[in-house]
Amino acid sequence: MCGIVGYIGARPAAGLLLSGLESLEYRGYDSAGIAVMENEKISVAKEKGRLAGLREVLDTSPLSGNIGIGHTRWATHGVPSVKNSHPHTNTDGTIAVVHNGIIENHEALKDYLQKKGYSFKSETDTEVIPHLIDYYYDGDLLSAVRKAAEKLDGSYAIGVISSKEPDKIVAVRKDSPLIVGLGKDGNFIASDIPAILSETKDVYLLNDNEFVTLTKSGVAITDADAKPIEKEIFKVQFSAQASQKEGYDHFMLKEIHEQPVAIRNTLRGRLDKDLKLNLDNLKFSDDIEKLYIVACGTAYHAGLVGKKAIETLAKLPCEVCLASEFRYGDPLINKNTAVLVVSQSGETADTLAVLRMAKKLGNTVYAITNVVGSSVAREADYVFYTYAGPEIAVASTKAYTTQLVAFYLFAIHLAELKNTVRQSELDDMKNELLHLDEVVSDILKSDDEIKKLAADIAGERDIYFLGRGLDYFVAMEASLKLKEISYIHSDAYASGELKHGPIALIENGTVVISICTNPEISNKLNSNVKEVTARGAKTIGFTACLSDTAAYNEIIKLPQVDPLLAPLPAIIPLQLLAYHVCTAKGFDVDKPRNLAKSVTVE
Ligand code: M6R
Repeated sequence: MCGIVGYIGARPAAGLLLSGLESLEYRGYDSAGIAVMENEKISVAKEKGRLAGLREVLDTSPLSGNIGIGHTRWATHGVPSVKNSHPHTNTDGTIAVVHNGIIENHEALKDYLQKKGYSFKSETDTEVIPHLIDYYYDGDLLSAVRKAAEKLDGSYAIGVISSKEPDKIVAVRKDSPLIVGLGKDGNFIASDIPAILSETKDVYLLNDNEFVTLTKSGVAITDADAKPIEKEIFKVQFSAQASQKEGYDHFMLKEIHEQPVAIRNTLRGRLDKDLKLNLDNLKFSDDIEKLYIVACGTAYHAGLVGKKAIETLAKLPCEVCLASEFRYGDPLINKNTAVLVVSQSGETADTLAVLRMAKKLGNTVYAITNVVGSSVAREADYVFYTYAGPEIAVASTKAYTTQLVAFYLFAIHLAELKNTVRQSELDDMKNELLHLDEVVSDILKSDDEIKKLAADIAGERDIYFLGRGLDYFVAMEASLKLKEISYIHSDAYASGELKHGPIALIENGTVVISICTNPEISNKLNSNVKEVTARGAKTIGFTACLSDTAAYNEIIKLPQVDPLLAPLPAIIPLQLLAYHVCTAKGFDVDKPRNLAKSVTVE
């Protein structure tokens, strides 16, 4: 996590760094800092907490200069504090470094450097980097950074400035994202494209172990052996506006409302009005007997729905795994398996590590991702972009629904390749898919009703979600959404599992939210709802099965669609519910505590 940015050019750096950091704040917001080259000397400003704190510091004591680096932190090593904030410097303050990632061998390096006489001020892993660069510096900053990087284990995107060579920024990445922006009157580095989008749409996407030297007039990229690298300019397709709130109070609300468009964009060019599917670029060998779907968080929940879609339509056995578990679980990968990773950001450390592990073991890797040019996108064999547009809120919404669309298309594609289901059945599903955006638009109109419900439950301590089959997966996603932004304790249970333990938690007035989209199993769910009602629960049903609703204290109607597609519309009111509970409690919707959008550490 953490976001880094750098600017070198003709304009004052501080303002540009702050606006870049603002777009990167989704990556972490425990503290922020910048270092600017002022009259060939480095000046540093840092503050604990949100970027607003750093802005106040800079309002009182502005930093001038046209070269600088900045950082917004998600604390890993050391508590959020000014002392632990980046940029970190060497002893005499002639080298300043911002870093995103984790230096795994920092203890050993610190030990080594302390023996050489270096002293440390912070508790961070990062502080070894400026000292190490200082240690190797012999008149060439780039070569000192290269030598230092050789000693670092772990992940890093690093930006470095030095008053010994005050006309450049040096940067490098390994396993943490970093891009270079080519502006009209200066050049940038950043962890992510939105940070520089108001300045330029021309970027270089850096690969691991590529070193960049930025000057006012140019950018030079070299590899670990100092060989020059020629790169193509990548033209960003979305606008800076797409990363703004555009009149909404919060990014999360904007992103919830963008779902109809995001769904259309994900379908565009892949599913025609005449029901022809164009996914021929996703090759799938007949030898593949099993698919591992691997992801984290919300993307994992999308994977659970994806498994059901692929198994139902393409009759291909799938296993859905959390990336952090899969890596160390000794999975049975062999020549007859393939791996499909799902990641909005395309930078999640555990998911990326699984991708690399699978490729090393010779497996074909498919990826569903939202970020063009992300590490996952660049390294997978076959990529399915979700085209949801930038997702800024930490709580994922439009990424989830477009990941579901990706899975549905993928499942239908495999079914057509394998000829596993009658074409008419697939065509019916395609037809429904083409209209899902309208279904979602309709649900979004029920916002007022959901807001009222949110006000009723915002004071609760615990809220439980129940579902069966696919609805259980919706319950899991709804529960994650609620807890991550409202801080209400919440769990999701497969409703049939209740009697095996969780029902002991139900007290008089406990709120239980049930999701029911499949009429064929609604009576089973209803029995479970009655069981909790008998124990005093207040029951709320999000249901498309309206024939038997007597068990509920309150009902939110869901639309009737094909049961396989139902998780998509079903999650929309539950996203709205989480949003409104959070605003009713007055919490920060887009930047919930302890979290960051892009989890680039293990
Ligand atoms: O970028 P990714 O899709 O790989 O991110 C995975 C999770 O970190 C992410 O979905 C997380 O669970 C969200 N905060 C949930 O809203």
